[in-house]
Amino acid sequence: MAEFRAPVGTRDVLPPESARWERLVALFAGTVERAGYGLVLSPMFEEVGVFERVGEGTEIVRKEMYDFEDKGGRRIALRPEGTAPVVRAYVQHRPTPPFKAWYAAPNFRYERPQAGRYRQHHQLGVEALGTDDADLDVEVLALAWSVVGALGLSQVTMLLNSLGDDVCRPPYLDALREFLAVQELCDEHAATYERNPLRVLDCKRDACRAATEEAPRLVDLLCEACAAHFARVRAGLESLGIGYELQPRLVRGLDYYTRTTFELAAEALDSAQNAVGGGGRYDKLAEALGGPATPGIGFGMGVERLLLACDAEGVFPAPAPAVDVWVVDTTGGTAAIALTHELRAAGVGADRSFDGRSMKAQFKAADRSGAALALIAGADEAASNTVTVRDLRAGEQETVDRADVVEHVRKRLS
Ligand code: HAM
Repeated sequence: MAEFRAPVGTRDVLPPESARWERLVALFAGTVERAGYGLVLSPMFEEVGVFERVGEGTEIVRKEMYDFEDKGGRRIALRPEGTAPVVRAYVQHRPTPPFKAWYAAPNFRYERPQAGRYRQHHQLGVEALGTDDADLDVEVLALAWSVVGALGLSQVTMLLNSLGDDVCRPPYLDALREFLAVQELCDEHAATYERNPLRVLDCKRDACRAATEEAPRLVDLLCEACAAHFARVRAGLESLGIGYELQPRLVRGLDYYTRTTFELAAEALDSAQNAVGGGGRYDKLAEALGGPATPGIGFGMGVERLLLACDAEGVFPAPAPAVDVWVVDTTGGTAAIALTHELRAAGVGADRSFDGRSMKAQFKAADRSGAALALIAGADEAASNTVTVRDLRAGEQETVDRADVVEHVRKRLS
């Protein structure tokens, strides 16, 4: 019979890699919860309009969305990104601002799969709604930077830009269109630059890269309010000693951005997939989703890419196995059932072999498990109502009364 495999562009995460995921999520949660962000769980799918409203001009929404009609005739999409669902939830429930949320969740995009690019990927992210204070931008960018630092990554660059607002962006787009109209662009963008001129700045093809070398830069044309906002963000980052690179070409892959935008580029990864995180302001998104005008900012970091960057830099290894004790029972009785159960209830990680394996096989399994101690329940121990405690590293052992052994082990390990 044909064997099933995980769908193209998806991955199974098995131990010990999955233990690394747990550690990464815990590290992220700790970092952002210390800054007042609370966990938000939102559905894995939404009405398709939630996403259409925020990215009509983007590949993510136009070409890559997993959308379908459900059995009730509703148009549904699997979440391609994490910001629109949180803002939709904010608009629906109206929590008191500032509303500071974090999430760890899968996203679905029908992309061409390759290393670091999947059809299901996972993001750790935050969204903060309710103020356009530039100090909040600094807080959010600093949180992303702290996560990078806590992982031990040192070859990551923060790329920073401002995409302006309703006042300065429209005249800039007109100027950019006028500039692009007389340039040689790639085939795709020659056809689409009028509708979405910003995308051309992001194009990796040689023609567009060369054509936009001298293109006008929005950072040079920001209105007074946006320029002041951006200056305060930059000064805030500098006061924290967070280095960044101004990147006027950084336009991001979603339409909702205003003002501050940023990306974290991992130098150790292949340049096409080296963004380990990205985000920015979206001051018009709540309104676009039918809510009251509410500015917001956030970021998402790709779990898979962060861990690839960790591998490339040789940091944040998979943690050691979790059990401390291996129970070896050679009598075929119930000692192993009882001891593992009591140890676990006392908070000690414990495991055992099954299938009545030989003593030799059980010790082999004990060594493989990485456990520090083996508890041996053999015929002699059963006769004297004791258990032998063997230190698997030092090779020493001692005999302990059965009634005291769990407490003895607990103390020894603590
Ligand atoms: P994004 O840049 O599309 O932004 O995705 C954020 C991060 O998710 C990327 O930097 C990358 O690490 C990871 N990522 C994206 N697509 C894939 C993929 N196909 N395979 C593997 N990893 C991927 C957003 O999604 C915004 N919602 C971020 C945000 C939050 N902006 C404001 N708040």
